[in-house]
Amino acid sequence: MTSLVGPGGTADGTPSGAVEVPPRILELAREAARVCVLTGAGISAESGIPTFRDAQVGLWERFDPLELATPGAWAADPAQVWAWYAWRATLVRRAQPNPGHLALAGWQARPGVRLGIVTQNVDDLHERAGSEVLAHVHGSLFALRCSVCGRPGGAVYPELDEPVARVDPPPCDTCGGPVRPGVVWFGEALPEDGFLAAVDVAREADLLLVVGTSGLVHPAATIPHLAGVGGVPVVEVNPAPTAVTEAADEVWRATAAAALPALVARLGDVGPRG
Ligand code: OAD
Repeated sequence: MTSLVGPGGTADGTPSGAVEVPPRILELAREAARVCVLTGAGISAESGIPTFRDAQVGLWERFDPLELATPGAWAADPAQVWAWYAWRATLVRRAQPNPGHLALAGWQARPGVRLGIVTQNVDDLHERAGSEVLAHVHGSLFALRCSVCGRPGGAVYPELDEPVARVDPPPCDTCGGPVRPGVVWFGEALPEDGFLAAVDVAREADLLLVVGTSGLVHPAATIPHLAGVGGVPVVEVNPAPTAVTEAADEVWRATAAAALPALVARLGDVGPRG
């Protein structure tokens, strides 16, 4: 059964102490010794990184990321795809972890808690906040590799002052093939180890927290459902309804940067029971 709680958090910068934490969510968080947090683009939104389904800005408003993030787009015009990722990489480098990322790092460091972060994000803001990430199920923006021989190379994205339409990808050190972003494109398989580890940790958790994902992209979107049917309490933190909502036991209509610091601040001094 889904119970809708909220509005508990605010998007207007209200200090976390003033954000009301839904009591049932606080209780679940306090009691959980094994926590799995599944994050999506929404957790980085308040760091200034646009989500996938937000309107794209500037030059890229004419392009649909769902069409650019494909092997077909790369085959047709690698320079266009590389330019798009180079611009995303520039935005990520300029961005800083927000209070949502930092709160999860603080929770992960608490004694007596095992907290596994599974992210669909290709940015590195969880790591820069001090978290260890169990799985980047859609890969990592900065883990570049050759699109022909697959070897990781020494290549880096160019520094851009503004978005540009096309930039030639650098050649692989080994075979000369064009270097590509280390992300999973639509139509490609997910790195199997990471995905299986993510499913395991979600199914074995005492609590699955789903933060800032639309739940539209499979197979990552199956994780809340798999955990839920196995009896794991599923809590959604998202300012808007999503495809995850129906599978959630509790729903908190708040942004990540408002909700997560408020929740972690209220966990108290005592570790989870059991
Ligand atoms: P989406 O862009 O589909 O969804 C972002 C979600 O974040 C939405 O549900 C928003 O309501 C929510 N949101 C927005 N601002 C938020 C905030 N401040 N705090 C919390 N939530 C907020 O992003 P994902 O679900 O991550 O795949 O997308 C999944 C995958 O689709 C991505 O990993 C990517 C994309 O195409 C690949 O690249 C393979």
